[in-house]
Amino acid sequence: MKSFDLKTKIKFGLGSLSALQEIRDKRVLVITDPFMVESGNIEKIVENLKYSKYKVFSEIVPDPPVEIVVQGVQAFSEVDPEVIIAVGGGSAIDAGKAIMDFSKQILNKEQVEFIAVPTTSGTGSEVTSFAVITDKQKGEKYPLVSESLLPDVSILDPELVKTVPKTITADTGMDVLTHAIEAYVSTDADEFSDAFAEKAIKLVFKYLRRAYNNGDDMEAREKMHIASCLGGLAFDHASLGINHSIAHALGGKFKIPHGRANSLLLPYVIEYNSDMKNKVENDYSLAAYKYCEIAKILGLKSNNTRLGVRYLVNEIRNLQDEMKMVTNLRGCKVSDEDVLKFEDEIAVLALNDTCTLTNPKQPTHGDIISIIRNII
Ligand SMILES: NC(=O)c1ccc[n+]([C@@H]2O[C@H](COP(=O)([O-])OP(=O)(O)OC[C@H]3O[C@@H](n4cnc5c(N)ncnc54)[C@H](O)[C@@H]3O)[C@@H](O)[C@H]2O)c1
Ligand SMILES: [Zn+2]
Repeated sequence: MKSFDLKTKIKFGLGSLSALQEIRDKRVLVITDPFMVESGNIEKIVENLKYSKYKVFSEIVPDPPVEIVVQGVQAFSEVDPEVIIAVGGGSAIDAGKAIMDFSKQILNKEQVEFIAVPTTSGTGSEVTSFAVITDKQKGEKYPLVSESLLPDVSILDPELVKTVPKTITADTGMDVLTHAIEAYVSTDADEFSDAFAEKAIKLVFKYLRRAYNNGDDMEAREKMHIASCLGGLAFDHASLGINHSIAHALGGKFKIPHGRANSLLLPYVIEYNSDMKNKVENDYSLAAYKYCEIAKILGLKSNNTRLGVRYLVNEIRNLQDEMKMVTNLRGCKVSDEDVLKFEDEIAVLALNDTCTLTNPKQPTHGDIISIIRNII
């Protein structure tokens, strides 16, 4: 028997931040990053908290390390919050989840409401049971996975995403696309996750260019915010694949932004998973047929499976080109020598990543190294 469960209540659309006014007479801990405070964006949150007592903990940095989570647990113990509001990109939301989970265990607390307010349209962390924490010394990222990490409420107000600069819009948008595509071909995919993934993919191809070209295009920002959440719902159910496994390892080792690492790999992982060499129609893998299905959904040429997969990859490359994204590790300031020095270590980490379990094709160590060499 399978089951599809939804825990998180989702409020969305311009003005949805007013849902925070429902919090009354509570102790609230707001967890965020310094940008939200310096830019004044945090006012849009706290102006809705006038009926409660709140403290802002704003120490979160990208790819949050364990040390920051420990500081957050300290802030938690000082406030003893009834509600946590994590505001920011995936880093702030993931750190908020880890702070809540560790604090509950250490301080023996049970009921703490967790509200996620994403300010990037990328990770979908506002509806997932994942939190990615980094060990800076080892240069490794650890995905924590537990239903206890699922937010109770998520608020998708596009007003908060307006300030996201072009490069981060591109990186995070490609993260959305990678979540949806990997969930779609995952060995755990089913009709429920497919429905969320298909819609997320359509929205990305329709609105990401617009959000990139004009950050004030509120329709595009709103649709990308929804796409990000739909992608999160898809992969929270179906999980991901080796695109994310390798991206986690590359990101931890070379400090490449998460969405950019995914974007570099996506065309090559699709080619690898399609596994079409020396095969003919009716003999392809299920993944190849599903990639072709995506091409059909997008209205791309897909008279046969080979063509469909090729056009999907071309369309992804066009999107990357239009957003002036780098397409190799040199463009991310990683030297060829460093790639060759660390490729074995990266392959071991990627093979052990939980996302590898649901990849449609089980890779060998050598397969992962070949994929990495494509993006040098
Ligand atoms: N939990 C999950 O399900 C999940 C899924 C995928 C990735 N992740 C993790 O999430 C992290 C990446 O999150 P991200 O891509 O959202 O980036 P991020 O949270 O690391 O933020 C990147 C940068 O964008 C800035 N930023 C955020 N919102 C902004 C805004 N509105 N305006 C201007 N600047 C803004 C931040 O200050 C930061 O400097 C990685 O650690 C990744 O591994 C988690
Ligand atoms: Zn991701």
